[in-house]
Amino acid sequence: MRVGILTGGGDCPGLNAVLRAIVRKGVPAYGHEFVGFRDGWRGVLEADVTPLGIPEVRGLLPRGGTVLGSSRTNPFAGDDAADGPSEGAARIRRSLADLGVEALIAIGGEDTLGVAARLHDEGLHVVGVPKTIDNDLGGTDYTFGFDTAVSIATEAIDRLHTTAESHHRVLIVEVMGRHAGWIALHAGMAGGANAILIPERPFSVDAVQGWVESRFRDRYASIIVVSEGAMPEGGAEVLQSGQKDAFGHARLGGVGDWLAHEIERRTGKEARTTVLGHVQRGGTPTARDRWLATRFGLHAIDAVQAGDWGMMTALRGTDIITVPLLEATKELKTVDPALYAEAEVFFG
Ligand code: F6P
Repeated sequence: MRVGILTGGGDCPGLNAVLRAIVRKGVPAYGHEFVGFRDGWRGVLEADVTPLGIPEVRGLLPRGGTVLGSSRTNPFAGDDAADGPSEGAARIRRSLADLGVEALIAIGGEDTLGVAARLHDEGLHVVGVPKTIDNDLGGTDYTFGFDTAVSIATEAIDRLHTTAESHHRVLIVEVMGRHAGWIALHAGMAGGANAILIPERPFSVDAVQGWVESRFRDRYASIIVVSEGAMPEGGAEVLQSGQKDAFGHARLGGVGDWLAHEIERRTGKEARTTVLGHVQRGGTPTARDRWLATRFGLHAIDAVQAGDWGMMTALRGTDIITVPLLEATKELKTVDPALYAEAEVFFG
């Protein structure tokens, strides 16, 4: 079989490890041939492919990013009809037929897998692999990329502790995660943050002020980890601009600076913000992410071989299983209040 692979949406460490595992099993075990589509769904729409054989995946295991490139192209962006055959699906069907590609493995987050689920409904042979640093996909305990992002954010917090203490400052670390606070929660706990602010729980600025002041009374400087989607009680998410991507997502960012200003005004302590941004997505994956990405790749090609169309790989405990693509996309996996309560023990 000729199988196409694409990586869509925001990149994350481990994507290349998935490509490697699919090809390293799919060629010798099943005799498949692979092509990679460049830049996510754009490559599929425009039949822009690159060969993906065993020589092409050599050395990819530790490499960050994606050698296929990625984009946030939405093949259904121009379609008004929510139901029934769409122009986007028809273009993809034509492109796959022209290239002789019989099955597609889509590696992505909620948007890419949402497109994959819709294509499956329209009869295409699609299997999904979940990825995102945000860890906000349903159906799987964890996504790869998350562990690397948490490790990077934790290292940053460790470093900020020492300089915050030297200068008696409040240092705020703004992390990614969109509408889910997983990165903030895990990195904040691992890094011993004074407060962790997540989108799932609007924060009281009075409470943050109290935590900062109590930390200084103990002669300690304060580190606050804030998720880019966190918002004050009665407030709204802070947006970098009014622009939206092809899937309708606004660009978040700026809550850290907003909070620094509020803290300075209320406490008289100097407050500064470090926005970690895309550093969290770059570079080599952690061992855990390589392990998860590799196992997802192996099970994705097994799913193709078994004809498990419309399914995606998922981690359940330590097992890799397959679940319907819709499980990943039907609702965002957000932080459980009980987990947040554990972190709250350390606030202030
Ligand atoms: O979904 C991954 C993610 O890194 C989010 O945490 C973040 O809000 C968004 O992508 C940033 O997107 P972009 O790379 O397009 O700026």
